[in-house]
Amino acid sequence: MSTDIIGEPAALKHLTGLSGIPAAKIAEILDKASFHKDLFLDSGKEISQTLKGKRIVLAFFENSTRTRFSFEIAARNLGAITLNFTASSSSVSKGESIVDTIRNLEAMQVDAFVIRHPSSGSAEQISRITGTHVINAGDGTHEHPTQALLDIFTLREYFGSLRDTKIMILGDILHSRVARSNIFGLTTLGAQVGVCSPVSLLPVDITSLGVKVFTGLDDAIRWADAAIVLRLQLERTTGGYLPSLEDYSLHFGLTDERLEKIRKHMLVLHPGPINREIEISSNVADRIQPPGYSKSVLLDQVTNGVAVRTAILEMVLGRKTDKNSNSL
Ligand code: CP
Repeated sequence: MSTDIIGEPAALKHLTGLSGIPAAKIAEILDKASFHKDLFLDSGKEISQTLKGKRIVLAFFENSTRTRFSFEIAARNLGAITLNFTASSSSVSKGESIVDTIRNLEAMQVDAFVIRHPSSGSAEQISRITGTHVINAGDGTHEHPTQALLDIFTLREYFGSLRDTKIMILGDILHSRVARSNIFGLTTLGAQVGVCSPVSLLPVDITSLGVKVFTGLDDAIRWADAAIVLRLQLERTTGGYLPSLEDYSLHFGLTDERLEKIRKHMLVLHPGPINREIEISSNVADRIQPPGYSKSVLLDQVTNGVAVRTAILEMVLGRKTDKNSNSL
């Protein structure tokens, strides 16, 4: 495990994705998150004044539980003020564009936007029209960088180093921003990444991302040290991608029966929310201790999300950066 960084926060103007982010910067975020996790768990409530008086807009144009609340806790732990924005209760519902919305909020002298939006590329686009910091909290099917960082943080806690660990990402790769960010981050850190999915839910250019492709779950389980199980996006997969949910569950659901058949120990992650008995059985999702061939760290991921997002907010807002500098 790397040592904690407790010095001056490094400049980090925006975080819109993990594509192109160097390993050293990812390690810096993880080390800082480790420092914050210790403080957070020590007292139950980490309160510092690093971001005292900063105004952080949590602009969620899509629903969220884990990401929104963990950003809110992280911001408050650092002394910042959070401003919650939901599309349905704002003037977006009267037809105001996202660009006008952002410009109006910026005119109120806010310090950062944490943005979740259904359109791929929206966080990057917003970062180009504002002088304010932008953090991507999930944009369409593009990236969810803070989720991947908390997944990677959780894997690093378990394995120590990620170099040459074999991480399987199981499920709907085609529509998954979590899968894309994890592929970028994990491969940068030297992990081997395998994706396991029905062919209909694989992007056509998937091999260009440097991953191993499995279309059978048993082979993927034999290969992998850990599985990141993805939510089957029921709102997107009704359009002829799958014969039926039962068929998907039969062939790609992670269950005790499959793990026991192969007698392979597996660390199991899931970003949530989970569809129980569709992509993962309750036995696997809820098993946090042996006996059994799996260990679930789903709720550890949620706790780690607060630590990782605290680190990111501090690195983005903690020191004045040049408005014209690059993302990192
Ligand atoms: N994993 C994740 O992004 O969950 P939420 O949609 O609840 O934020």
